Formats: sequence, C-alpha cells, structure tokens
Amino acid sequence: MPAGRRFSSVEVMDISQAHQAGLVARVSDLTKSYGTGSNTVSALDGVTIGIRAGQFTAIMGPSGSGKSTLMHIMAGLDTATTGRAWLGETEITHLRDADLTLLRRRRVGFVFQAFNLVPTLDVLGNIRLPFELDGRRPSRDELEWIDRLIESLGLRDRLTHRPHELSGGQQQRVAIARALAIRPDLVFADEPTGNLDSRTGREVLSLLAAASAEYGQSIAMVTHDPIAASFADRILFLADGKVVEERQRSTPDAISSFMLGIETAA
Ligand SMILES: Nc1ncnc2c1ncn2[C@@H]1O[C@H](COP(=O)(O)OP(=O)(O)O)[C@@H](O)[C@H]1O
Ligand SMILES: [Mg+2]
Repeated sequence: MPAGRRFSSVEVMDISQAHQAGLVARVSDLTKSYGTGSNTVSALDGVTIGIRAGQFTAIMGPSGSGKSTLMHIMAGLDTATTGRAWLGETEITHLRDADLTLLRRRRVGFVFQAFNLVPTLDVLGNIRLPFELDGRRPSRDELEWIDRLIESLGLRDRLTHRPHELSGGQQQRVAIARALAIRPDLVFADEPTGNLDSRTGREVLSLLAAASAEYGQSIAMVTHDPIAASFADRILFLADGKVVEERQRSTPDAISSFMLGIETAA
C-alpha cells in the first residue's frame, strides 16, 4: 500500500467565501489522475489548500506524493481532472490557454530545480526576460527594483555572463532575480535546491525567506527536504496525493520525524 493511505485528508484551511481574504492562490477538492483503465495513477486525491499572502509556504512530501502535480495545477501549467483552482480572485480552472499564459506571465514567478535559464542570454537578459515576453520595457521604478535585486542577490559582477559560465548557486540566484523582477503575486519554487550542494542550497533558501520577510513576497515552495522546509513560515504535508498535516515554522528534526511517520505508516 502506498505511504500515507492511513491518513485521512485533513481540512487544512477553510476556503469558503468568508475566508478567502489574504490568499494568493487556492485550490478546492482537486483530483488528478494520469492514464486510463488499470494503468490509472491517482496523483492528487481531494486537495483543498490556500497559499497565504506575504508568507513563505512549503509543500512537503515524499517523492511521488503529488507535490509537482499540485504546483503545476496551482500555477496553471497543468489542468486538474476534477476540482477548482484560483490565482488571486481569478478562477483558472477553465481559463483559455492564451488568458492563462498572460496571467502567469504578469502575476506568477517560477524557480525550478533545473534553473531553466535561457542559455543564449546573459544574466541581465535572463533577469529582464519576463518583460521581453510581455512585450514591454521595465519602467524606471521597475529598473530600480531590478537593480536592488541584482545587488542583494550578489549578481552585480556577473551581468554579462552566460548561464554556462556560472556556478549552480549563481544560476539559481539569477532564476530568483528573474522570478522576483516583475514583483509577482506569487512565486512558485519546485525543489529549488535540488541541484545545489547543501551550503549553496541554504543560501538560496535564505534569499527566498528574506524576499518573503523583507518584501512580503508570497512564495509556495515544493520540497522533499526537511531542511528546505524549515525555512518556511508554514508547512503543508502531502502524502499519497492528500494533505495530511499543516504546521507553522518547524525545525528540520521535527519535520523529519513527521515525514518518517508518513513513510513508515504504509
Ligand atoms: N505525466 C505523468 N504521467 C503519468 N504519471 C505521472 C505523471 N506525472 C506524475 N505522475 C505520477 O503522479 C504521482 C505524483 O507525481 P509528482 O507530482 O511528480 O510527485 P512529487 O513531485 O511529489 O515527486 C507519481 O506517482 C508520478 O509517478
Ligand atoms: Mg516533484
């Protein structure tokens, strides 16, 4: 039996009309299955969560628990089998692709495990890419913001370098600058430290936590790493496609213990 089946799905947040204020994203009763017939895999099984504005939220769970699937549906990169999803006040469940693309471009930032920088663009070109894609130049105010990001992420002397000339940690800092450049309503990060050594990983996590603490940036980070999750204000635990626990900021040890409980429950 897959891990987590013994946990019933917990109601982690009341997302009824009266309690929607302060949520930058939410999903209601999501299910997602892949394949058909006897090959069907259930990746999500009735997930209802909200991501709070200004907070750093971790979505934590073992490999295969449905974290990336959940993130992709919340971000409008994939569609659910059943259930509903909102970004801010906009329901994205049945949004047309063109509208979804615009919404993502203007309101969401992404940081992926594989960095996903454009290899032919230098650092500055990568950071400004969201504006290029949106067909506009950054305003003066936005240029100042980008300059602040370059400074605080330590990228000043790397602006004309291409991604292949940078270390993994530097590449991920560029990806973070790019994600924050448009001041998105929400940044989604999927295992952002998965390709980094532990020291560099911690630096990247500190930068994400600082963006949330200092600028009120809302962040939803998917991870299977208890140390990464310990940087978050709030942790949602996923097991076998269900949300099984919600905790406020916790130590890596406390998170590990809970995870071990999930993994041995099968
Ligand atoms: N495109 C796909 N086709 C078939 N099965 C998939 C696909 N994507 C994910 N899955 C399955 O859905 C489950 C959840 O996957 P995923 O969301 O990637 O988990 P996580 O990110 O927590 O490791 C796993 O059993 C995985 O094998
Ligand atoms: Mg994943």
